[in-house]
Amino acid sequence: MSAVLVVHGGAWAIPDELAKASVDGVKAAARKGFVVLRDDGRALEAVEAAVKALEDNMVFNAGHGATLNVDGEVELDAIIMDGRTLNCGAVSSVKNIPNPVSLARAVMEKTSHVMLTGRGANLFAESVGFSTVTTHALVSEFERKEWECHKTYAAGVLEDFNTQWTHDTVGAVAVDSSGNVACATSTGGIRNKMVGRVGDSSIIGCGAYADNLSGAVSCTGHGESILKVTLAKLILSHVEQGKSVADASDLALQYMGERVQGAGGVITVSPSGKWAATFTTQRMAWAAAENDVLWSGLDPNERKKENLN
Ligand code: GLY
Repeated sequence: MSAVLVVHGGAWAIPDELAKASVDGVKAAARKGFVVLRDDGRALEAVEAAVKALEDNMVFNAGHGATLNVDGEVELDAIIMDGRTLNCGAVSSVKNIPNPVSLARAVMEKTSHVMLTGRGANLFAESVGFSTVTTHALVSEFERKEWECHKTYAAGVLEDFNTQWTHDTVGAVAVDSSGNVACATSTGGIRNKMVGRVGDSSIIGCGAYADNLSGAVSCTGHGESILKVTLAKLILSHVEQGKSVADASDLALQYMGERVQGAGGVITVSPSGKWAATFTTQRMAWAAAENDVLWSGLDPNERKKENLN
């Protein structure tokens, strides 16, 4: 079967000044992840490679470019999951780690646990040789200015994300040539969040889920809403009941809007290579690589096609 990789760079009211850089960034990350699949790499490796590329890009709220909490600190959350085994690793409220997705993978592969948080996650990072960077190195000029303007969580969220909620998160889902699916999600969370606040991104079944029996999902959007409806698992439940990945994604996002008034976006892939990228915020930068084609979009119903080579 042919491999597919889909990435998102966060669902929110992306301003025009960040639009081109956001689309360029997701396209570059999709190419990077797809090279892994094309070289017969596993879906798990492909999603890690794609999310690392997004974490390294200052345009996105993950790793470099992360938002600041109420104390002006960066606290990062990430998850990775292998749909073949249901093995999963996650970190939350971790500091000074440029690629939290790789730390999440290390939790999955080198510990008996699924999630490490805060100081424990940082101690583990040190013990397995992860290098650290300063908070200053992780924060973009854009974020510093925004944080200075919006000193409270509620005002910042409402003013900045003039639809509903959030500057948000990156993620990737993939299916490899053996039909194995995987997902990864990484975020700096929401600007001016309380110290220690954890959103959906690192929570299994909420910010991401992968199961070879149904598919893989990575979510973005208002974390508290996503947590309340366990969005990733909700989508895969619809798939298990026979819905297409596109219908399942739309249905679950619509439910989140109606039930808890939350907005967001999702990327979903099935073990047979069907995929969807959909959102209820103003915009979401996304890209999908399959065969020789790279698809991408930013505005609702936008779907551009170009050659992958
Ligand atoms: N969706 C990311 C967060 O709310 O933290």
